[in-house]
Amino acid sequence: MIGRNGIGIGIGIGHNLDGLSMKILLTGGTGYIGSHIAVVFAQMGHSVVLYDNLSNSSASVAGQINAITDEKCVFVRGDIRDTAFLQSTLRSQQIEAVVHLAGLKAVGESVEKPIDYYANNVQGTISLLEAMEAERIKTLVFSSSATVYGQPQYLPIDENHPTSATNPYGRSKLHIEEMLSDVAASDGGWHIACLRYFNPAGAHETARLGERPAGKPNNLMPFIAQVATGERTVLSIFGDDYETPDGTGLRDYIHVMDLAEGHAMALQFLISNAGWHAFNLGTGQAYSVMEMIKSFEKASCQKVAFNVAPRRPGDVAACFANPDKAMLVLGWTASRTLDDMCSSTWHFYQSFDNAAGKAKG
Ligand code: NAD
Ligand code: UFG
Repeated sequence: MIGRNGIGIGIGIGHNLDGLSMKILLTGGTGYIGSHIAVVFAQMGHSVVLYDNLSNSSASVAGQINAITDEKCVFVRGDIRDTAFLQSTLRSQQIEAVVHLAGLKAVGESVEKPIDYYANNVQGTISLLEAMEAERIKTLVFSSSATVYGQPQYLPIDENHPTSATNPYGRSKLHIEEMLSDVAASDGGWHIACLRYFNPAGAHETARLGERPAGKPNNLMPFIAQVATGERTVLSIFGDDYETPDGTGLRDYIHVMDLAEGHAMALQFLISNAGWHAFNLGTGQAYSVMEMIKSFEKASCQKVAFNVAPRRPGDVAACFANPDKAMLVLGWTASRTLDDMCSSTWHFYQSFDNAAGKAKG
């Protein structure tokens, strides 16, 4: 583990998650991250509307969210590019703030299908902004990514690090961030936060929610989990000759529930702060691919077979956050450990009903 100050992830300070109850629409609300945010918001007493076209998720997720929270989250099947329907949903549900997660997110696919990525991510966001403006809703939290930092020029990465993009997915995030900055500059009524996620991992403690990608996973944690369950035979480590302590890539893995709580803190901040704001959501600690394998083996009591493959094009040796701004300004810091990420993922995978395509229960 590499960290800025050599201390573990469990450095959490008390989160003040109390606040006003609001009516919040989550675009992409039945997806991996959106579903965990919905739980956090519903348990805080907010009214939550999940707006999703189900292109990468299932309506059963809404049922799982409601089973966890005993709250009535409303699910609306819709596309963010359908401006009229989105606007009528904002109006009929009396929405006061939006968390915008909907989008396509696979880097490799974005290189093959850039038009899909710009249409879904950039055009979809323009459609959302038009609908919000028409309804005079001007509080927005956007799911951005550490990908907007491009090739790291220094570590850890703070919010002042120059931004750039190395693929259409990253460029779509950067375009959206810039659009949102222009929108906030044009009208002081907007309150916008761009949250730059590092590497989300882990699942809900009930094992009802987690990340179960269709097809071959692109990301490390679901791939490791599928080798541990025996669904896949071997993990390919993409390069062991990086300039890192064990030669494998270093990343800042953050528990999805910590990430979700970061959205709650950002929303609370936006209530009293207009303008455009960017925050890193990471832990400040970095783990190597090899450390991830060992940690998952410990949590699951399973062997994770691996081989060493060539480096993946576009990968960097190391990427981890300086999360100080989120701590100082939002009062947020990640508190869950790597073991929490591995054990909750393992629990979720064991509970997943492959035949039904959803978590059991
Ligand atoms: P996800 O695919 O699980 O969730 C996205 C949801 O958006 C899906 O449920 C999908 O059906 C929905 N969606 C896609 N296009 C839509 C459209 N046009 N209209 C309505 N719904 C649509 O992905 P996730 O991991 O939960 O990611 C959520 C957001 O966070 C994305 O914007 C992603 O780019 C961003 N992000 C994710 C990661 C990560 O590693 N998971 C890292 C950084 C940023
Ligand atoms: N890795 C492997 N084998 C695999 C998958 C990944 O060795 O089968 C390695 C990668 O080379 C890297 C590390 O595991 O060193 C993490 O890879 P991920 O694909 O899980 O994550 P990335 O850091 O490459 O990218 C993720 C998201 C991006 C996002 C970025 C920053 O996929 O969309 O984090 O937020 F932009």
